[in-house]
Amino acid sequence: LVDEGLRSGKLRFVVGAAEAAKEAEFHYLCVPTPQGPDGAADLSYLEAAAAEIGPVLPNDSVVVNKSTVPVGSTRVVSRVLGRSDVAVVSNPEFLREGSAVHDFLHPDRVVIGSEDQSAAVRVASLYLGVAAPMMVTDPASAETIKYASNAFLATKLSFVNAVAAVCEAVGADVNDVVLGMGYDKRIGSEFLRPGPGWGGSCFPKDTRAMIHIADDHGYDFDLLRGVITVNEEQFERVADKVSDMAGGTLDGARVAAWGLTFKARTDDLRESPALEIIRRLIERGAEVVAYDPAVETAPDGVTLASDLYAACEGANVLVVLTEWDDFRWPDFDKVAEVMADRRVVDARNILDRAALQRLEFDVVGIGRT
Ligand code: UDX
Repeated sequence: LVDEGLRSGKLRFVVGAAEAAKEAEFHYLCVPTPQGPDGAADLSYLEAAAAEIGPVLPNDSVVVNKSTVPVGSTRVVSRVLGRSDVAVVSNPEFLREGSAVHDFLHPDRVVIGSEDQSAAVRVASLYLGVAAPMMVTDPASAETIKYASNAFLATKLSFVNAVAAVCEAVGADVNDVVLGMGYDKRIGSEFLRPGPGWGGSCFPKDTRAMIHIADDHGYDFDLLRGVITVNEEQFERVADKVSDMAGGTLDGARVAAWGLTFKARTDDLRESPALEIIRRLIERGAEVVAYDPAVETAPDGVTLASDLYAACEGANVLVVLTEWDDFRWPDFDKVAEVMADRRVVDARNILDRAALQRLEFDVVGIGRT
């Protein structure tokens, strides 16, 4: 898309926000809102961008906030801009890493939050080519929709990981349980894959920020705290599984880890469950050799292997932490040959159990005995 935009002359790059702002009618703020030390979102990038463009914005232009910002930030931007003729509209983005272009062009909905109806209509007109329900609401509701959506999805994942723990205890198979639940239209089958816990650059920061926003307004969002606790426990539970597989202790054990990124089809390591789990394995005395098709620089304390089989050389346990397609159908004969012990913890439930069992591997997954 960038190439296409440059070639057609529809896209130009300039240095500095003010330079970009001085001729346009719409101004999208897409700056990061990292987590501050107390769990609240840090708005300094947003305020700096608004301060820079405020003085040069053309008359009657519209500033659109795409960044995920606490409720009330539309007003903050408006104040920093210091322009009574410029409307600020909240237009949260719901795209996922790895499928961002597709998600942007085929959204489930477009949400526009504005106190100024005509500015809302102008922003809505930018999405005329997009076939999706479009809703116009007030800025506080638009901002809350973004946090509530991420918090709900994180809740769904922690819920399914908790159900997986119950499945292990009662001898049920979580894959079948999730299938049976998902047929209920009120529940839906998406976003119900159990795993090593959720991570990435959004869910961890946005769930904490939502707790903080609620706290600031006198509501204790205990449910969401529980969602985060279940997630942290999941990292520990996967580390326990690896330890159990190694015979009850990781001291001196060699562990092969397949996957480092927080999910497949991204090279992002931020808040990756894989790294959280590997850190715990190392703390418990394991030597970890990892392979990830998208990672070239080894994270602290981890040795990086050149391919999946090299990672397994001499390993006592293999743990699968990211659901890369390359991991689904490996040459298990080769894996068996190079490992010291045939033991696997499949924290994404992606490996072919029957193939592994034919080669007499001990296998354990998530929510399946
Ligand atoms: C997320 C939201 O999906 C998106 O709407 C928002 O705009 C940004 O945050 P992203 O961070 O790219 O997107 O990741 P996502 O695909 O949602 O996955 C988040 C985490 O949940 C990953 O660690 C992933 O492995 C995990 N996950 C997801 C599961 O464990 N099971 C699932 O079924 C789905």
